[in-house]
Amino acid sequence: MSLYPDKVMEHIKNPKHSGSIANATVVADNGNPSCGDELKYYIRIENGLIAEIKHEARGCAISRAAADLLAEMAEGKSVQEALSLTHEDIISAMGGISEGRRACATLSVDVLQEALNKLYNLP
Ligand code: FES
Repeated sequence: MSLYPDKVMEHIKNPKHSGSIANATVVADNGNPSCGDELKYYIRIENGLIAEIKHEARGCAISRAAADLLAEMAEGKSVQEALSLTHEDIISAMGGISEGRRACATLSVDVLQEALNKLYNLP
């Protein structure tokens, strides 16, 4: 039996959104200060929708899986819908994460929001 649920394993083994986007509308990156792991999202917006989203994730398996799963959840959504994705949404989509590893998963949501907020020049 694997350490992680099948859905999480799939995103670890076969990430569908890894890479970069040359003509991204917004880019944001940030890290988890407790371990130094980093995540960068590239997002291309078309007509108010997230047309394409890619990531470069350099971190633990949970953070890489969360980055890929959140990209899957956000792609095709409007900017406003994607901005409403929460820490609890990614944790529940991953089938639950132990208390000590929550920051590994929620980094994805924080970087996504940072990127999308740049569209509005919000801090
Ligand atoms: Fe660094 Fe998980 S240990 S993000």
